Amino acid sequence: MTTPAFETIIEPFRIHSVEPLRPTTPEQRRAALAEAGFNLFQLDSADVLIDLLTDSGTGAMSRDQWAAIQHGDESYAGSPSYYLFRDAVRELFPFDHVIPTHQGRAAEKIIFSVLGGPGKVVPNNTHFDTTRANVEYTGAEAVDLPISEARDPRGDHPFKGNMDVAALDALLAERAADVPVVFVTITNNSGGGQPVSLANLREIRAVCDAYGKPLFLDACRFAENAWFIREREPGQAGRDVVDIVRDIAALADGMTMSAKKDPMGNIGGWLAMNDAELARQCRAVLILTEGFPTYGGLAGRDLEALAQGLREAVDHHYLRYRIRSTGYLGEALVRAGVPVLTPSGGHAVYLDARALLSHLSPLEYPGQSLAVALYEAGGVRSCEIGTVMFGRRPDGSEHPAALDLVRLAIPRRTYTQSHIDYVIEVCLHVAKHASELPGYRIVDEPPQLRHFTARFEPLR
Ligand SMILES: Cc1ncc(COP(=O)(O)O)c(C=O)c1O
Repeated sequence: MTTPAFETIIEPFRIHSVEPLRPTTPEQRRAALAEAGFNLFQLDSADVLIDLLTDSGTGAMSRDQWAAIQHGDESYAGSPSYYLFRDAVRELFPFDHVIPTHQGRAAEKIIFSVLGGPGKVVPNNTHFDTTRANVEYTGAEAVDLPISEARDPRGDHPFKGNMDVAALDALLAERAADVPVVFVTITNNSGGGQPVSLANLREIRAVCDAYGKPLFLDACRFAENAWFIREREPGQAGRDVVDIVRDIAALADGMTMSAKKDPMGNIGGWLAMNDAELARQCRAVLILTEGFPTYGGLAGRDLEALAQGLREAVDHHYLRYRIRSTGYLGEALVRAGVPVLTPSGGHAVYLDARALLSHLSPLEYPGQSLAVALYEAGGVRSCEIGTVMFGRRPDGSEHPAALDLVRLAIPRRTYTQSHIDYVIEVCLHVAKHASELPGYRIVDEPPQLRHFTARFEPLR
């Protein structure tokens, strides 16, 4: 008997410790929704069955990460846990200065308080919500420059996360003096978890060089992005993901990072760069807001867990499973005719709420309505990425976002295939009843990042 190459891609781990899931009734979920002001961020997680709100900090740590935690050295200054962490970061991103932060937005807050300010403009392929908020909080302008294909939910461009390089060039030609830094988000979370190609990064680098501008990565999902490059970019097949990541890093001058994503942490982040003077200014802010530069808002044990998580993040068995299992969910929905953003992202599948709930206008928040319905129907928590998240402008006006999406984000190594089969069933049920779903209006909202705490009411 010859042994075939079996096609089933299995979870490359077995379960070592389990957490119970508590089913609820539709009546309990309706009561929870009313209590939460129809905002899924306001639900108690105990009332959620399958939690796809975010892949951020929600993954399962490995046996080796838990073991690493026992090595944590909690010295205030110069802890060996910091050096282990710094070296693990530099294995992949060999920047001179590595500054730990408690999570990604802390790194953003620090870099933009140094580089931002009124009159400045920061280009990005697409700013994530906290990135945009941190830019705008300083009085600077956050400009998204995705390629035009990114706006087509059903196109099959392999690198929909790419930046429109001509638009970047035009912005710099007009306002070079106002641009302190160019950012690229890999993968592009708010643009559907889509990857950025090495070729695009090289072109962006060339434009940055032409205008003498630093290029920074928002690199939360760097390993997933590198895997997509390996799978989709001509000339990259078969390469080690570590080498691809190093190629990406070599094109940049620095990075912000939420270590709650690909580095497999439940908390953590960092800021890294080559510019010593910029690093000095960032460390000065870090000491005010986060902590001493060798721990920066994290415990020594967290730094140890991240050093180990970074090694696991670039494992090919893991990445093959990770990208395939997200694709499995996306493909099942496409097969059933549910409008989803294609190709599937690395960490999430995005339902096209504007298309599915075409009876609602964007300002009636179709994404919010769909997300509420998925929870009500099956206890599945998702996240609106659309007009609720991005519709309010700094001047107070409200406009439809480019797309109204609902993100089903997959926590790393947490749910099994049968959990995902259940999610598919819930999505199909809700899609069948989509035309009955109501619009929503906001009855209370804060001035920034309103999606976290706003309260809603269904429109009757
Ligand atoms: C692309 C991107 N940048 C920045 C952040 C912010 O990171 P954190 O949640 O750790 O503050 C996130 C979080 O989801 C993200 O997806």
